[in-house]
Amino acid sequence: MATGTALGGHRGPTLRHGGARGPSDTLTVVNQPPINQSRRIVTDLPGPRSKELDTRRTAAVAPGVSSVFPLYIERGEGAILVDVDGNSLIDLGSGIAVASIGHAAPEVVAAVREQIGRFSHTCFMVSPYEGYVAVCEELNARTPGDHEKRSALFNSGAEAVENAVKIARLATGRQAVVVVDHAYHGRTNLTMALTAKNMPYKDRFGPFAPEVYRVATSYPFRDGLDGAEAAARTIAQIETTVGRHNVAALLIEPIQGEGGFIVPARGFLAALSAWCTDAGTLFIADEIQTGFCRTGEWFATEHEGFVPDLVTTAKGIAAGLPLAGVTGPAAIMDAVHEGGLGGTYGGNPVAAAAALAAIEVMRRDDLAGRARTIGAIARTRLDALALETPSIGEVRGRGAMIGIEFVEPGTTVPHAAAVKQVIAACAAQGVLVISCGTFGNVIRLLPPLSISEALLDDGLSVLESAIRDLQA
Ligand SMILES: Cc1ncc(COP(=O)(O)O)c(C=O)c1O
Repeated sequence: MATGTALGGHRGPTLRHGGARGPSDTLTVVNQPPINQSRRIVTDLPGPRSKELDTRRTAAVAPGVSSVFPLYIERGEGAILVDVDGNSLIDLGSGIAVASIGHAAPEVVAAVREQIGRFSHTCFMVSPYEGYVAVCEELNARTPGDHEKRSALFNSGAEAVENAVKIARLATGRQAVVVVDHAYHGRTNLTMALTAKNMPYKDRFGPFAPEVYRVATSYPFRDGLDGAEAAARTIAQIETTVGRHNVAALLIEPIQGEGGFIVPARGFLAALSAWCTDAGTLFIADEIQTGFCRTGEWFATEHEGFVPDLVTTAKGIAAGLPLAGVTGPAAIMDAVHEGGLGGTYGGNPVAAAAALAAIEVMRRDDLAGRARTIGAIARTRLDALALETPSIGEVRGRGAMIGIEFVEPGTTVPHAAAVKQVIAACAAQGVLVISCGTFGNVIRLLPPLSISEALLDDGLSVLESAIRDLQA
């Protein structure tokens, strides 16, 4: 694998100020030394400064917002996060599939600094600017299908999903939205309704938005169905419980993220897409977690051989700045009346500049190819480990989106305790991995696509030994 050209020894400029600041204080730009792309633990974890910050946090931050690791981050570069105690941690989660081009990529740092020095806000609905238009052009060109498209930009994934539903309802004149088991689409009121899992996302936060219907998905490890069988089951449920003429949109993640990195059986999504076309329903591909090279293609639906109607994007699009999009055929997007879509910050100029820089890095460094290489390396090791580990039920995924589902040995009973144990053991060694799954029993790997082979190997070795220790 090509090793991190995007990591190569850049200096992330940072602003530092000292003492009390008044209007005349100047901020000094200091160049920090590059962060060595290796793991290094110099204190107990969490270290004393992280502990101090955690005490302040407990007094100041609403506990409903929780964190997986109590390690407070001071800097990041490439695939390494450095905490406030000076520990260098390998990030195998990319802040949930966001830092795909690596932390503090110099191209993004430069683009953001340049843009924020010119202007940081006008509100595109008041005074437009080129960056917004250019991001829409990129989305139109890169999402599946070569038909004429339009895009609209928003702040978060949930907001993009909400807007995709608005567009689908208006364009079809129908109201029902069909979602599937294990789906995750966000935490706003409509997207809570669209999301499947109750705890922690929905519990006691209702009532939820109406006209949302949930049907079965394809989960080969648990349902044993091939794509055609699973699609027939799903379509029959829609037809009988909702009625095809009522469905505005079928909304689905091409690989389910929070729900457990569930890769549907081959043909499932294409069959649903064909049914949507026949029923006059829009197929909305939620590519928020899978998009932007993560699965080895620019978008995960490209693996499936069909073109979705609407595509929602966020996360990896802008290297950590808040940006999201909805992209669809001109005929559908043009149906919405003038002023019907928007928001104060959607497509913010600084986030747009970051996105354009990030997309250029993905293209230049062929990060989709890197994702395939990362996937091949990780799968070779994890598939071998699975053969000797009875508590691994399945290793699955595409490209650099890899899930390891844990079960009680010899059964398919979910084993969430194993996941907790492995994550804690990895964190203690300075490797950050995160979980997912309706049953909390899946470890998901989402490394920055720019990670070097050496760092990936080190991270995987720590993960392997944590999993082996389960049996010990
Ligand atoms: C598939 C999918 N859709 C929507 C969302 C919601 O995105 P956000 O957290 O930016 O609102 C997520 C976030 O994890 C996601 O994975």
